[in-house]
Amino acid sequence: MTPPLFTRFSMKARRIGVLTAGGDCPGLNAVIRAVVKTAVLTYGWEVVGIKDGFDGLIGDEASTVALTTDSVQGILALGGTILGAASRTNPFLYTRRQQGNRILLDVTPRVLERIQELELDAVVVIGGDGTMRIARELHDMGAPLVGVPKTIDNDVDGTDVSFGFDTAVGIATEAIDRLRTTAASHHRAMIVEVMGRHSGWIALHSGVAGGADVVLIPEFPFDVEVIYRRLQRCFAEVQRSAIIVVAEGAYPTGGQTVFRNRTSSQEKRQLGGIGEYLAELLHTRQEQELSGVTESDYDIRVTVLGHVQRGGTPSNTDRVLATRFGAAAVRLVAHGKLGRMVALRGETLTDLPLARVARAPRTVPLDCDLIQTAREMDIALG
Ligand code: F6P
Repeated sequence: MTPPLFTRFSMKARRIGVLTAGGDCPGLNAVIRAVVKTAVLTYGWEVVGIKDGFDGLIGDEASTVALTTDSVQGILALGGTILGAASRTNPFLYTRRQQGNRILLDVTPRVLERIQELELDAVVVIGGDGTMRIARELHDMGAPLVGVPKTIDNDVDGTDVSFGFDTAVGIATEAIDRLRTTAASHHRAMIVEVMGRHSGWIALHSGVAGGADVVLIPEFPFDVEVIYRRLQRCFAEVQRSAIIVVAEGAYPTGGQTVFRNRTSSQEKRQLGGIGEYLAELLHTRQEQELSGVTESDYDIRVTVLGHVQRGGTPSNTDRVLATRFGAAAVRLVAHGKLGRMVALRGETLTDLPLARVARAPRTVPLDCDLIQTAREMDIALG
């Protein structure tokens, strides 16, 4: 139950904030634009842009900017976020340096105070699953929030799709198409490492769209022998090349997720390196085979797509979804439906309580039709 901290809120909200938290994602600016246009043109409200995610609700005056229909001109197709994003800020565990030491503080009282100082009737919080968890807890403390799900990984619970995903799949698919021609020319196996921390949506969709031979996702561990055998077939057949798409969170049976900075603290660890690791495992397997026959003597190259998948202009699909989400978030505020997140279920735009959203990342169901289709396309899933 929301305590009556924000008594100013009524069915006629007049001033709302908007912030983008977590990593950036194509379509964030399209949401900001839709929030501003709907709030200003349909309801006659004012909109305050909060800079750098939750950091902007912890800082001072300089951390906000007035947003008008003029200030959102021309940002629909722009990548990144005009408001800035702070991917690691959590007001419940806020990092401060004191005399050279790192201390963690709960700065949520400041966040609540800042929302009141700014006289905001509501704040539209755009972010991924971590952000939605924070939003839910802040809402439980009385902050008037609504959520908009964003992530290229497509792993926010409660929505079938989040904006950014379509763009990322498009970028990964184009990369696979390009790698295929060089793989075919040199008769090589190309490993493409794509993003996907807990879920293999990008890997699976781009792998099917790009006609990959192997797709490896974090939802279940892969068996190197299965991949090796599939590659042997590729090189024995007419194509004499192979494309392997691996999500950064994928890992081998009996092995672990690969981090590029394993020795860093838990929250600073970055996923990455599974592509190179897989290449090593396959090389080792090739060496064993080479003592007998020469058929597995093909080169393996690795391409890591990394943040390229997050940057740049959003696809038209993402622009439409981001615009629908932004407008719907303002409608939620107008109808007094705070503490909820907008979502897409099938083709239907809907919303659900933040309490029901922020549970666990939405992973690829192993019995979904795309997994079955991938197998039917002779894609090895490890
Ligand atoms: O959650 C989206 C995501 O793109 C993940 O796929 C990836 O692991 C992570 O963000 C990268 O985050 P950062 O930009 O902090 O390196």
